[in-house]
Amino acid sequence: MMSIASEQRETPLYEIEGLVIDLYTEQKTIRAVDGCSLAIRAGETLAIVGESGSGKTVMTLGPLGLLPEGITVRMRGKANTVSGDMLAVNLRRRASVRGNDFGVVFQDPLSALNPMRRIGPQLAEQARRFAGLSADEARADAIANLRRVGIADPEDRYWRYPNEFSGGMRQRAMIALALASRPKILLADEPTTALDATVQAQILSLLKRIQAEDDLAIILITHDIGVVAGMADRVVVMYAGRIVEQGAVADVLKEPVHPYTQGLLSSVPDLETPIGERLAEIPGVPPDLSRLEAGCRFAPRCFAAKPSCNLTRPVLAPVSSGPATHTVACFVMQGKRQEVTR
Ligand SMILES: Nc1ncnc2c1ncn2[C@@H]1O[C@H](COP(=O)(O)OP(=O)(O)O)[C@@H](O)[C@H]1O
Ligand SMILES: [Mg+2]
Repeated sequence: MMSIASEQRETPLYEIEGLVIDLYTEQKTIRAVDGCSLAIRAGETLAIVGESGSGKTVMTLGPLGLLPEGITVRMRGKANTVSGDMLAVNLRRRASVRGNDFGVVFQDPLSALNPMRRIGPQLAEQARRFAGLSADEARADAIANLRRVGIADPEDRYWRYPNEFSGGMRQRAMIALALASRPKILLADEPTTALDATVQAQILSLLKRIQAEDDLAIILITHDIGVVAGMADRVVVMYAGRIVEQGAVADVLKEPVHPYTQGLLSSVPDLETPIGERLAEIPGVPPDLSRLEAGCRFAPRCFAAKPSCNLTRPVLAPVSSGPATHTVACFVMQGKRQEVTR
């Protein structure tokens, strides 16, 4: 029998179920997220990979109400958070589930930090708002958080502006800002893509340390397979708004099953893959997301596609010879892993 503590660990901190997100532009409606479900537990790192435009950002930021202003968004599905609130059973309007549960780290620190304001007060304000601290407590908290993310002389740096920080330091400051609300989940959307390799490795090890200290769950969007191998427990592969494969990193990297995943990983050997190894390019272009077709969206680019792949939508199901936790949405590969060689 599971102990209460381990049962609690098994309960997802956050889950989305059947999430559909449509974006309304002037010309057309884009189904950016098309029926996606995922769950994340305390202490776990979930990586999300997929080509640019596959819906990683919209899927993760959408339910938090963090998509850019000026675009009309319609959402359906469920998004449950830590507190057990069904934050938007029917996410018709932009729901803000951000609150205390999520800290968000972006590629560009200036999308989180106001360049016109000193760093420290921004952190302190976040701690007052979300963690309910007094002004004095919030200042002390901000200084402690700056120190915690590896910023030397935080009492002085507290009064600096973002442009007085190096790129790596700004990234650290944004992580401190994300931590100010005492999140249980850190959502990091390509957090190190813009950084050079050395700084990138430092930021990743910082995230790991904080994760261990706070039992944080991390949702990590990345183009870097070395980062997936080094950081993540599980990986979700997105294509054209859908999850096409997901499972333990060891399983998916060792034996990618979906032809799309195989293509992305084709240049990539194993768990030892160093940071900086990017996903491979796959010939062809992604489909037009404003057209909803019945079948598998990857079929036109797929080496294994059959005519029937265009008729019905494949759903995630366990791979026949793999662990039940490794699922793939592909008619050809489900149960036929042995027959097709890479
Ligand atoms: N602000 C926006 N306006 C119009 N379309 C958008 C906007 N943001 C995202 N999209 C579209 O939604 C789809 C998913 O985008 P996104 O989630 O940003 O992809 P990813 O993060 O995987 O690169 C893409 O087709 C993209 O063009
Ligand atoms: Mg993105």
